[in-house]
Amino acid sequence: MAAISQDLAHARTLLMRGQPVAIPTETVYGLAANALDEAAVIRTYDIKQRPRFNPLIVHAHSLAQVEAYSQGLSTLERQLLEAYAPGPLTLLLPKNERVPDLVTAGSPLVGIRLPRHPLTQALLRELPFPLTAPSANPFGKISPTRPEHVQAQLGGQIELILDGGPCELGIESTVVRVEAGQIHVFREGALTREQLSQHAPVQAAPARGPLHAPGRVKYHYAPDVPTYLYRGQALPTDQRIGMLCFQKTKPGIPPEQQWVLAPNGDLSEAGRQLFRYLNELNREGFDAIYLEPVPETGIGRAINEKMRKAAARYE
Ligand code: TXA
Ligand code: MG
Repeated sequence: MAAISQDLAHARTLLMRGQPVAIPTETVYGLAANALDEAAVIRTYDIKQRPRFNPLIVHAHSLAQVEAYSQGLSTLERQLLEAYAPGPLTLLLPKNERVPDLVTAGSPLVGIRLPRHPLTQALLRELPFPLTAPSANPFGKISPTRPEHVQAQLGGQIELILDGGPCELGIESTVVRVEAGQIHVFREGALTREQLSQHAPVQAAPARGPLHAPGRVKYHYAPDVPTYLYRGQALPTDQRIGMLCFQKTKPGIPPEQQWVLAPNGDLSEAGRQLFRYLNELNREGFDAIYLEPVPETGIGRAINEKMRKAAARYE
């Protein structure tokens, strides 16, 4: 099992040696490695059992570092970084030769973000390289928002989980590309369309082949049992089902089989709890899990997107 601690010196030593370390961010926990060390990066792909065609996000601590690994920033890109970095914004930028092709899975674009968790910021400032950090879960499984989630899923394969407590947002960063004065969203995330559209028109990224939309695997965040969206349909009576509700439990199902995301209707709270409750539901060994979508506004868009992907295999 991995150590769970706040020992930055230990994290630094492991990363300098090419060993992956789980790190906290404001979105979800990441599985960090030296972005410039291909062998270290490959180790994270292997631990996650992630296909190599899915690129990794580079985590940096400053605008200067963003500039050092890209080919520079447009006015709008700079504006977005000034408004939302550090924070849950991943910008796709033309990479320069310092970024290994392995990190971007051969794409000329690199995703870069400045995470906001103070522990990880301190770690990044102490390292002479930026960090790749995919979410610290096996490929396709539920993203971790607490150290114990990482321990349960990957603890046997890494030495250290840096303990930053529960994640502040609980939903991954929003992945965007600025093109011709417009913001294209490649992955819905914790940074909302409402926020982005204060700066430029926002639209879904055009599907242009696997390299341009690699995040769009069809199912993801998947519990180990059949999972469905709940739209008020009749539920099976011969099965023990678990229910993830938005504000209120549903009649006809024992209350101990129901989890409520946000009794007060607060979507930020729903975002914070989504993966935590999915994890808990998954551990209960239900015959099936039902997920009630939330209002499609603000961070609700990303929450619903995650729910759709969790259910995609069975819908
Ligand atoms: O909030 C987050 O972004 C978390 C924390 C740990 O920072 N990280 C994360 O990484 O979610 P990961 O690897 O689980 O998801 C990264 C997403 C994938 O959908 C990937 O396809 C997309 O970002 N992505 C990364 N680099 C890309 C690139 N060069 N072009 C297109 N999509 C890219
Ligand atoms: Mg992920």
